Amino acid sequence: MPTFEPWTTDRALSIIAENKDRDGATLPILHALQETFGHVPEAAAPLIADALNLSRSEVHGVITFYHVFRRQPAGRHVLKLCRAEACQACGCDDLISQAESRLGVKLGGTTADGRVTIEAVYCLGLCSTAPSAMIDGKPVGRLTEKKLGTLLAEADR
Ligand code: FES
Repeated sequence: MPTFEPWTTDRALSIIAENKDRDGATLPILHALQETFGHVPEAAAPLIADALNLSRSEVHGVITFYHVFRRQPAGRHVLKLCRAEACQACGCDDLISQAESRLGVKLGGTTADGRVTIEAVYCLGLCSTAPSAMIDGKPVGRLTEKKLGTLLAEADR
Protein backbone atom coordinates (compact mmCIF):
# COMPACT_ATOMS: atom_id res chain seq x y z
CA MET A 1 0.00 0.00 0.00
CA PRO A 2 1.48 3.40 -0.91
CA THR A 3 2.29 5.83 1.86
CA PHE A 4 1.76 9.51 1.38
CA GLU A 5 3.18 12.66 2.88
CA PRO A 6 0.98 14.81 5.08
CA TRP A 7 -0.25 17.94 3.32
CA THR A 8 1.79 21.09 3.84
CA THR A 9 1.47 24.29 1.87
CA ASP A 10 5.25 24.58 1.50
CA ARG A 11 5.58 21.11 -0.02
CA ALA A 12 2.64 21.81 -2.35
CA LEU A 13 4.21 25.10 -3.45
CA SER A 14 7.48 23.39 -4.27
CA ILE A 15 5.67 20.75 -6.36
CA ILE A 16 3.78 23.48 -8.18
CA ALA A 17 7.01 25.41 -8.81
CA GLU A 18 8.69 22.28 -10.22
CA ASN A 19 5.88 21.72 -12.72
CA LYS A 20 4.49 25.13 -13.55
CA ASP A 21 6.46 25.65 -16.76
CA ARG A 22 5.37 22.37 -18.31
CA ASP A 23 2.89 22.30 -21.20
CA GLY A 24 -0.65 22.23 -19.84
CA ALA A 25 0.80 22.50 -16.35
CA THR A 26 -2.48 22.05 -14.47
CA LEU A 27 -2.69 18.30 -15.05
CA PRO A 28 0.96 17.47 -14.27
CA ILE A 29 0.71 19.54 -11.10
CA LEU A 30 -2.47 17.78 -10.00
CA HIS A 31 -0.96 14.36 -10.69
CA ALA A 32 2.19 15.26 -8.78
CA LEU A 33 0.18 16.56 -5.82
CA GLN A 34 -1.91 13.41 -5.74
CA GLU A 35 1.16 11.17 -5.98
CA THR A 36 2.67 13.01 -3.04
CA PHE A 37 -0.33 13.52 -0.76
CA GLY A 38 -2.64 10.75 -1.97
CA HIS A 39 -5.33 13.27 -2.88
CA VAL A 40 -5.77 16.85 -4.05
CA PRO A 41 -7.12 18.87 -1.11
CA GLU A 42 -9.31 21.96 -1.56
CA ALA A 43 -6.39 24.08 -0.38
CA ALA A 44 -4.44 23.19 -3.54
CA ALA A 45 -6.74 25.02 -5.95
CA PRO A 46 -5.87 28.61 -4.95
CA LEU A 47 -2.15 27.80 -4.93
CA ILE A 48 -2.33 26.39 -8.46
CA ALA A 49 -4.52 29.26 -9.64
CA ASP A 50 -2.02 31.84 -8.37
CA ALA A 51 0.96 30.05 -9.93
CA LEU A 52 -0.66 29.58 -13.35
CA ASN A 53 -2.60 32.84 -13.45
CA LEU A 54 -5.93 31.02 -13.63
CA SER A 55 -9.11 31.55 -11.69
CA ARG A 56 -9.80 29.24 -8.76
CA SER A 57 -12.94 28.04 -10.48
CA GLU A 58 -10.96 27.05 -13.58
CA VAL A 59 -8.66 24.92 -11.45
CA HIS A 60 -11.58 23.54 -9.47
CA GLY A 61 -13.28 22.65 -12.77
CA VAL A 62 -10.28 20.58 -13.85
CA ILE A 63 -10.08 18.79 -10.49
CA THR A 64 -13.74 17.85 -10.56
CA PHE A 65 -13.82 16.96 -14.28
CA TYR A 66 -11.24 14.18 -14.03
CA HIS A 67 -12.36 11.21 -11.96
CA VAL A 68 -8.75 10.30 -11.34
CA PHE A 69 -8.30 13.15 -8.86
CA ARG A 70 -9.36 12.38 -5.31
CA ARG A 71 -10.47 15.26 -3.16
CA GLN A 72 -10.40 13.29 0.07
CA PRO A 73 -7.76 10.86 1.33
CA ALA A 74 -8.42 7.33 0.11
CA GLY A 75 -9.08 4.33 2.30
CA ARG A 76 -6.34 1.84 3.15
CA HIS A 77 -7.26 -0.15 0.03
CA VAL A 78 -8.42 1.25 -3.29
CA LEU A 79 -10.57 -0.88 -5.57
CA LYS A 80 -11.01 0.59 -9.04
CA LEU A 81 -13.80 -0.86 -11.13
CA CYS A 82 -13.78 -0.28 -14.88
CA ARG A 83 -16.93 1.15 -16.40
CA ALA A 84 -15.76 1.63 -19.97
CA GLU A 85 -17.32 -0.05 -22.99
CA ALA A 86 -15.80 -3.54 -22.99
CA CYS A 87 -16.35 -3.94 -19.27
CA GLN A 88 -19.92 -2.64 -19.59
CA ALA A 89 -20.57 -5.25 -22.26
CA CYS A 90 -19.29 -7.92 -19.87
CA GLY A 91 -21.50 -7.00 -16.94
CA CYS A 92 -19.45 -4.58 -14.84
CA ASP A 93 -22.55 -2.71 -13.70
CA ASP A 94 -23.82 -5.70 -11.72
CA LEU A 95 -20.43 -6.16 -10.09
CA ILE A 96 -20.29 -2.48 -9.21
CA SER A 97 -23.74 -2.68 -7.60
CA GLN A 98 -22.59 -5.70 -5.61
CA ALA A 99 -19.44 -3.93 -4.43
CA GLU A 100 -21.48 -0.86 -3.46
CA SER A 101 -24.04 -2.82 -1.49
CA ARG A 102 -21.46 -5.03 0.18
CA LEU A 103 -19.39 -2.06 1.33
CA GLY A 104 -22.29 0.31 1.93
CA VAL A 105 -20.76 3.10 -0.16
CA LYS A 106 -21.25 4.40 -3.67
CA LEU A 107 -18.47 4.65 -6.25
CA GLY A 108 -16.12 7.41 -5.21
CA GLY A 109 -16.78 6.72 -1.55
CA THR A 110 -14.79 5.24 1.31
CA THR A 111 -16.15 2.88 3.96
CA ALA A 112 -16.82 4.51 7.31
CA ASP A 113 -13.93 2.57 8.87
CA GLY A 114 -11.52 3.94 6.23
CA ARG A 115 -10.79 0.43 4.98
CA VAL A 116 -11.77 0.54 1.29
CA THR A 117 -12.35 3.21 -1.35
CA ILE A 118 -14.15 2.19 -4.52
CA GLU A 119 -13.69 4.23 -7.65
CA ALA A 120 -14.80 4.11 -11.27
CA VAL A 121 -12.15 4.04 -13.96
CA TYR A 122 -12.63 4.29 -17.68
CA CYS A 123 -10.52 1.54 -19.27
CA LEU A 124 -7.58 -0.08 -17.56
CA GLY A 125 -6.23 -1.39 -20.85
CA LEU A 126 -7.40 -4.88 -19.88
CA CYS A 127 -10.37 -4.99 -22.23
CA SER A 128 -9.56 -8.51 -23.44
CA THR A 129 -10.09 -9.79 -19.89
CA ALA A 130 -13.16 -7.64 -19.15
CA PRO A 131 -14.73 -7.05 -16.75
CA SER A 132 -11.61 -5.60 -15.19
CA ALA A 133 -10.61 -4.06 -11.90
CA MET A 134 -7.55 -2.94 -10.02
CA ILE A 135 -6.88 -3.34 -6.32
CA ASP A 136 -4.09 -1.30 -4.75
CA GLY A 137 -2.50 -0.91 -8.18
CA LYS A 138 -2.72 -4.63 -9.03
CA PRO A 139 -4.76 -5.45 -12.17
CA VAL A 140 -7.50 -8.06 -11.94
CA GLY A 141 -9.10 -9.46 -15.09
CA ARG A 142 -12.20 -11.59 -15.62
CA LEU A 143 -13.79 -10.23 -12.50
CA THR A 144 -16.65 -12.34 -11.23
CA GLU A 145 -18.90 -12.07 -8.22
CA LYS A 146 -16.75 -14.71 -6.51
CA LYS A 147 -13.47 -12.92 -7.32
CA LEU A 148 -14.94 -9.65 -6.12
CA GLY A 149 -15.88 -11.32 -2.84
CA THR A 150 -12.33 -12.62 -2.44
CA LEU A 151 -10.82 -9.18 -3.13
CA LEU A 152 -13.09 -7.53 -0.60
CA ALA A 153 -12.38 -10.24 1.98
CA GLU A 154 -8.62 -9.75 1.47
CA ALA A 155 -9.06 -6.02 1.91
CA ASP A 156 -10.71 -6.83 5.25
CA ARG A 157 -7.46 -8.08 6.75
S1 FES B 1 -12.98 -1.27 -21.02
FE1 FES B 1 -12.50 -2.03 -19.06
S2 FES B 1 -10.41 -2.46 -19.24
FE2 FES B 1 -10.87 -1.56 -21.13
